[in-house]
Amino acid sequence: MHRHLQLTEHGKLKHFLSIEGLSKRLLTEILDTAESFAGISEHQVKKVPLLRGKTIVNLFFENSTRTRTTFELAATRLSADVLNMNIATSATSKGESLLDTIRNLEAMHVDMFVVRHALSGAAHFIAQHTAPHISVINAGDGQHAHPTQAMLDMFTIRQHKKQFAGLKVAIVGDILHSRVARSQILALNTLGVAEVRVIAPKTLLPAHVCSMGVIPLHDMEEGLSDVDVVIMLRLQKERMNSAFLPSESEFFKCYGLTETKLQQAKPDAIVMHPGPINRGVEIASSVADGPQSVILEQVSNGIAVRMAVMTMTLGHHGGAA
Ligand code: CP
Repeated sequence: MHRHLQLTEHGKLKHFLSIEGLSKRLLTEILDTAESFAGISEHQVKKVPLLRGKTIVNLFFENSTRTRTTFELAATRLSADVLNMNIATSATSKGESLLDTIRNLEAMHVDMFVVRHALSGAAHFIAQHTAPHISVINAGDGQHAHPTQAMLDMFTIRQHKKQFAGLKVAIVGDILHSRVARSQILALNTLGVAEVRVIAPKTLLPAHVCSMGVIPLHDMEEGLSDVDVVIMLRLQKERMNSAFLPSESEFFKCYGLTETKLQQAKPDAIVMHPGPINRGVEIASSVADGPQSVILEQVSNGIAVRMAVMTMTLGHHGGAA
């Protein structure tokens, strides 16, 4: 759907809106470019001049801790100028349309919009209507996609497991409302894992889940058996318009990840979560803070992956080297 809008005529990234339609080669290029940036956070001077003179606007119409701050850090480390729009105090509250906001920011000669919005398709809409020199990155749109989150998750998996071939991955929890799960499933299948399982009650799985290239399961013991990677998701109550569960405590009993349930996975399985985590709802503290958890590594990796996507969409292919 987004393939032609996302890519230049030479097959390079112009916008980053969705994993859909992107090749294994391109996803691998993002991971390799991110790897070249990963060491910069350890340097005394945490900066490279790749995007000096570029202006990047963070347009977050929905709350965020991890994504907004790591996009800002990524842009700063690439020496770009960053403008964080405070939507709550912007003219949006006076009735200005999204397109008028974009037109006004374009008039300030900016180079990139990083967009988070509660409506699916918002970043795509901006990419369709913005000036040709501007790149748009989707930082999460409704229930649709969160492609940079999926790529930082792929980066973290590759760091620990070295390759995707042969891996069994379980995604657990509220798949129905999760833009992260949709993007992860596309990325995992494109990169060639052996199996993607989704584990949830029927009420929290999309109707046509099998067409997504996953194995749906409703039992944690069966679903976690012999997996290499466990990805936990929170209940996205802000997107629930009716009762999908009896109670949070019942959900934790059946689907919450505890040390006992984790024993079904391979001994070297890693535990992931895009955050924010809800302790005692989808994950026990002893697992979230335990030796198999790579949750905070995911956050750190977000900086390098977002640096990669920013440089690639703005036409710098080659990373930090
Ligand atoms: N994972 C994620 O998108 O977190 P934030 O909502 O804090 O950005």
